[in-house]
Amino acid sequence: MAKEKVIRENWGTRVGFILAAIGSAVGLGNIWRFPGVAYENGGGAFMVPYLVALLTAGIPLLIMEFTIGRKHRGSAPVAFRRLNKNAEVIGWWQVAISIVIAVYYAAIIAWAGWYAFFSIGQQWGSEPEAYLFTDFLQMTPDLYEFGGYQLGLLIAMVVVWAFTLWVIGAGVKKGIETTSKVFIPLLLVMFGVLVVQALTLDGAVDGLNAFFTPDWNALVEEPKVWLNAYGQIFFSLSIGFGIMITYASYLKKKSDITTSALTVGFANSSFEILAGIGVFAALGFMALQSGTPIDEQVSTGVGLAFVAFPTIINTLPYGADLFGVLFFGSLVVAGWTSMVSIVQVPVAAMEDRFGWGRKKATMIFGGGMALVSLALMPAANGLMLLDVSDYFINQYGIVVAALVSIVVVVWVLWKWKELRDNANATSTFKVGPIWFVCLGVITPIMLAIILFLNIRDLLSADAESSLYGYRTYQAFGWSLAGGALAFGVIMALILRRRELPELETEEEAEAEMGATR
Ligand code: ALA
Repeated sequence: MAKEKVIRENWGTRVGFILAAIGSAVGLGNIWRFPGVAYENGGGAFMVPYLVALLTAGIPLLIMEFTIGRKHRGSAPVAFRRLNKNAEVIGWWQVAISIVIAVYYAAIIAWAGWYAFFSIGQQWGSEPEAYLFTDFLQMTPDLYEFGGYQLGLLIAMVVVWAFTLWVIGAGVKKGIETTSKVFIPLLLVMFGVLVVQALTLDGAVDGLNAFFTPDWNALVEEPKVWLNAYGQIFFSLSIGFGIMITYASYLKKKSDITTSALTVGFANSSFEILAGIGVFAALGFMALQSGTPIDEQVSTGVGLAFVAFPTIINTLPYGADLFGVLFFGSLVVAGWTSMVSIVQVPVAAMEDRFGWGRKKATMIFGGGMALVSLALMPAANGLMLLDVSDYFINQYGIVVAALVSIVVVVWVLWKWKELRDNANATSTFKVGPIWFVCLGVITPIMLAIILFLNIRDLLSADAESSLYGYRTYQAFGWSLAGGALAFGVIMALILRRRELPELETEEEAEAEMGATR
């Protein structure tokens, strides 16, 4: 029987693709995570591992993923399988990582949506911390205590999932590209106004000094600083979990690869640093108001967004409602465009590998993910699940999967020359030996050392030292990270004998080529 030939949907324009890729990259990781991670890991000195990770790992891996996606025109499992029959497992592993992230990512967007509304009149009251944990989340500190659903959270999450699946169901060009063209400029305007307002506050300069003053000791004393830098870059650039391979699979054959990767990489990091500036200017103001040192104000993730910011907003001399709506609105907009890209990974994999139509894949698989997310996250232990999942799936999911994909592609399959030539053939900026050294030598060595030191530290951590030191939490975290790999292995074994759809020919692709150049 002749194999079915799949003509793949394409991005409408090159700008559309770049905006969608930036939309994926710029997300909760930039606003919710980066400022606190940077501060906790040496402040200004964190820029060193951050830039090393961006230049030696982030951009080279982004180029690799863009090239694999465009050349093999498939979602992660299909693209890896076309690279080599045995490599499909990596694609499914990345799909599993995306599923885990999507499950909790939706919850943060939903919280931010509520907080954008609460900003009007500061409905969280004078004790934002108590409000968040007791009134809003009704949180239990026990990871394993399920139940205690919050109807408000559930409703907001239904909205997040419905919008996400609607955009994906509408297709790459009509859905993802169109939303990105609206949301990315909107985000820039909203966040730009917010940063300007933050910089006008008293104490802003002290905040910036704290952010940019380096603590060099942190760099040499703790391997986790380096792991955090690589983890941040991978999560933030949406690499290592299938997104950029999937997005690039809708590129036309002659699209520029390397310039797009440089544009996306630098746009993402610029936004990240802008977020750091905005957040620290605001924290400087808070330190001045409360008369306490700035390091007591800094927290990461949930604490930063949902406790520190409401506290700041409560004491703003003017424009408090606007500031709150802009901050939480930016989280929603940035988060949503990333959420769409995360869910696109498994949906596209089901489409490609099982020949399902887009609508069917979105409804069945996307809908299934939504149900799991809705069943878990609005519960009282939702925050604990989020915290532990986020930590383990990033450090030991994304980072390990990225390391394995690099080693397999560059060393085991020795595909780097083929990929280099493929990228260079259509790109203005050519990659050469430096790309190989960064991707194939520096990054794997760095990641292997960092992971070894970090896992050693984590396994010997006592329960008091961190949330992740608890043995029972580690059991959950390692099962999640290991489960993602197991999912990859099982899917690859099940599908081993199932052939792939035929790739369209160069001529057919040529015939459709045009605007995306
Ligand atoms: N790249 C996305 C973020 O930074 C996933 O949140």
